[in-house]
Amino acid sequence: MSLLALALDPLQEAPPPGLAPARQGVAGSADPVLVSLRDVHLSYGTVPVLKGIDLRVRRGEAVSIIGPSGSGKSTLLRVINGLIAPQQGEVHVDGIDVRAQRTDAQKIALRKHIGFVFQQYNLFPHLNVLANLTIAPMSVLGRSRAEAEHDAHALLAKVRLADKADAYPGELSGGQQQRVAIARTLAMRPDLILFDEVTSALDPETVGEVLTVIGELVDDGQTCVLVTHEMRFAEDVSDEVFFTEGGVIVEQGAPSQIFGAPENERTRLFLQRARGDDRRALRKRSRSGAALALATP
Ligand SMILES: Nc1ncnc2c1ncn2[C@@H]1O[C@H](COP(=O)(O)OP(=O)(O)O)[C@@H](O)[C@H]1O
Ligand SMILES: [Mg+2]
Repeated sequence: MSLLALALDPLQEAPPPGLAPARQGVAGSADPVLVSLRDVHLSYGTVPVLKGIDLRVRRGEAVSIIGPSGSGKSTLLRVINGLIAPQQGEVHVDGIDVRAQRTDAQKIALRKHIGFVFQQYNLFPHLNVLANLTIAPMSVLGRSRAEAEHDAHALLAKVRLADKADAYPGELSGGQQQRVAIARTLAMRPDLILFDEVTSALDPETVGEVLTVIGELVDDGQTCVLVTHEMRFAEDVSDEVFFTEGGVIVEQGAPSQIFGAPENERTRLFLQRARGDDRRALRKRSRSGAALALATP
């Protein structure tokens, strides 16, 4: 069942007008393009941050955005889910004109089908894992407790945490908490998930388990936009890769092209540096893996 069918807030008497085209989209036309940005410009005050971004994501695709810090990657994700409005350009998600969603009700309805996973997992520390996963489906989507808990258990199995339903976030490792956060996002059955550097704050030995879970979602056909510093991962899972720098997309293409034969000198330089970082991270991971093996009786 598409999340769009669930997107109607049960407390809302009528759907916000801006959502009508999307519902039609679900019922009939299967536009293969889920996300479309055209000539998007955004400034913070007088500082231009996005300078004419064009980007399309088809349903079922995984798209990675790579680029140096400060190049506007997080801003781009925030534009896609309507957290910030660009001054110029078009943003559509599933046929919805994101910039036209002005009321709180409209914005909430839009975000029901866009999941966002951040570096900080922001789980409720006073709720156990099961409650963290069921609270939004019950309160926002109006699902019954039984249904929400049934789903939550299935999702915990999917992220390989079936035995942690009763645990509290503080009892879990960073990687486990991030997997709970991913399951919590999936519990809303989003059409699209935006991942913003979700492994950057993790201990090296837990990065792999989170990437594995995301890779499996991509294999399942979940549409994703991934901002990541994990170049091998981006190369492995992406259908298309965008390299951004200074608020523009410098180069885009298939991972084999971007990573194997980048055309732009900026892309080449960035990848050279990033690969060095990747190698260092891998060495750190294998060292901490070895340390872990030594410490485990
Ligand atoms: N809320 C904000 N107000 C002002 N400037 C911001 C804000 N958020 C980000 N910026 C600036 O916008 C630029 C792009 O930021 P960001 O999108 O976070 O880049 P990235 O995610 O690629 O590191 C940076 O120069 C950053 O300092
Ligand atoms: Mg960022």
